[in-house]
Amino acid sequence: MQQLVCLSLLALLAGSSADRSGQTVTQLIIDEGSDVILPCSVSTEVDITTKVFDWKKDRQTEVFFYDQGDHYNKGRDGQDQQFKGRVEHFPNELTSGNASIIISNTKVADSGNYTCIFPNLQEGSIVSSVQLVVSQTVTLLIIDEGSDAILPCSVSTKVDITSDRFDWKKDPQTEVFFYDRGDHNNNGQDQQYKERVSHFPNELTSGNASIIIRNTKVADSGNYTCIFPDLQEGSIVSSVQLVVRASPKPYTMMSNATDDGVMLTCEVLGASPQPKLQWQDTNGKVLESDEPQVTEKGRRYYVTLQTTVKQTETKCFVCVATQEAISHTVKAEITVPVSEKCETPGISVRDVIMLGIGLLVGCAVGAVGIGGTVIYFKFNRKESRGHKDQSTTNGHPVKMSELSHEDPDANERLTVAVE
Ligand SMILES: *[C@@H]1O[C@H](CO)[C@@H](O)[C@H](O)[C@H]1NC(C)=O
Ligand SMILES: *[C@@H]1O[C@H](CO)[C@@H](O)[C@H](O)[C@H]1NC(C)=O
Ligand SMILES: *[C@@H]1O[C@H](CO)[C@@H](O)[C@H](O)[C@H]1NC(C)=O
Ligand SMILES: *[C@@H]1O[C@H](CO)[C@@H](O)[C@H](O)[C@H]1NC(C)=O
Ligand SMILES: *[C@@H]1O[C@H](CO)[C@@H](O)[C@H](O)[C@H]1NC(C)=O
Repeated sequence: MQQLVCLSLLALLAGSSADRSGQTVTQLIIDEGSDVILPCSVSTEVDITTKVFDWKKDRQTEVFFYDQGDHYNKGRDGQDQQFKGRVEHFPNELTSGNASIIISNTKVADSGNYTCIFPNLQEGSIVSSVQLVVSQTVTLLIIDEGSDAILPCSVSTKVDITSDRFDWKKDPQTEVFFYDRGDHNNNGQDQQYKERVSHFPNELTSGNASIIIRNTKVADSGNYTCIFPDLQEGSIVSSVQLVVRASPKPYTMMSNATDDGVMLTCEVLGASPQPKLQWQDTNGKVLESDEPQVTEKGRRYYVTLQTTVKQTETKCFVCVATQEAISHTVKAEITVPVSEKCETPGISVRDVIMLGIGLLVGCAVGAVGIGGTVIYFKFNRKESRGHKDQSTTNGHPVKMSELSHEDPDANERLTVAVE
């Protein structure tokens, strides 16, 4: 399964504000690769066909110069290299005083402050100010480990690229795939990608340089760029952030009951990206826990989180592992004691009967606490001793007898509910 999310959500955002001189500044935020119209109109609707106007970027870079019908696209010198062949005005709009221009196939480097100047105008020769922000589009691709990932890259012109060159790199120096005018032997390919990456030969004629990485591994996660080294300006055609996800279910375990309560351990083995663990009760209330222990090996995270339960409204506890970076959550439940079922939060008559198997529950209502209910779990030594029942939680055996307390004074209690 592939999830395609465009990171740059701001397709087109326009606004305006006034700068210090009182001049209105139009703000345009657009995605890289799109076309943008920079507006400029003289207030009085006069015919400007025989006038002069000049678009500059950041006060000095020549973007577009119009002089009575003559301009850069008609062979006039002086335009900055960056804008060659990408800027047009609207000839039919000149008669209505409209000196707007369109910049096509915008690059991040086009970002800046543009001014539309009428040098021969009487008052205030700057007619329009535009602040342009071109944001880089990064395709975010989240997939499960072991599946195949198609990394998209297409030249906007859709021209045949069969006899071109393109290079996929990762972070930023690892060689992933190199297509050289029909040759793709990939001699310099990083070992990690051997035999796992191909392009789509039938798609080349339509300008499609996408690749597929098969059987993805967590280590494949990273930022990929599709580069056309022979293209004139801005050779990066596509940027893809690949997240190969591993989301193993947490293991939950219970250790011996002590005076302090029962220690619950939650373990996540080899998740990626890094998960955040929480112990919660069934109401979703987060329990206070120890500091998590985290180790990392090859982008996989091994996390352990322990908590000691004394006071809670339920005997069902949930370990929640959240991978915030990819908005993904897995949970595992455990009950105290483990023979219980999680779907019945709180104490019922049925629970009391069930508990008779290994434990004795004393239920004191409203005895202690400020207007609240307190339920005591009594870990009765006699009752539980001869009982060697073994329950399994996620494959980890937990001895029921471990819940019994060794203190002969017996009837050590574990406060289970308050509030
Ligand atoms: C100027 O021309 C452009 C392109 O046709 C158009 O988008 C814009 O609305 C025009 N501006 C005015 C003020 O008419
Ligand atoms: C563009 O103008 C805005 C204010 O109008 C200013 O904050 C910004 O620094 C300017 N950018 C450049 C590249 O000059
Ligand atoms: C490029 O080719 C791939 C593989 O066939 C396909 O999934 C993708 O949609 C194509 N992209 C475009 C823009 O046609
Ligand atoms: C990949 O790019 C994103 C932003 O686009 C950045 O947050 C992240 O740290 C980068 N990852 C690597 C491995 O460089
Ligand atoms: C629980 O108690 C038993 C008996 O005292 C002991 O053998 C075992 O190691 C303890 N387990 C843990 C996890 O502390």
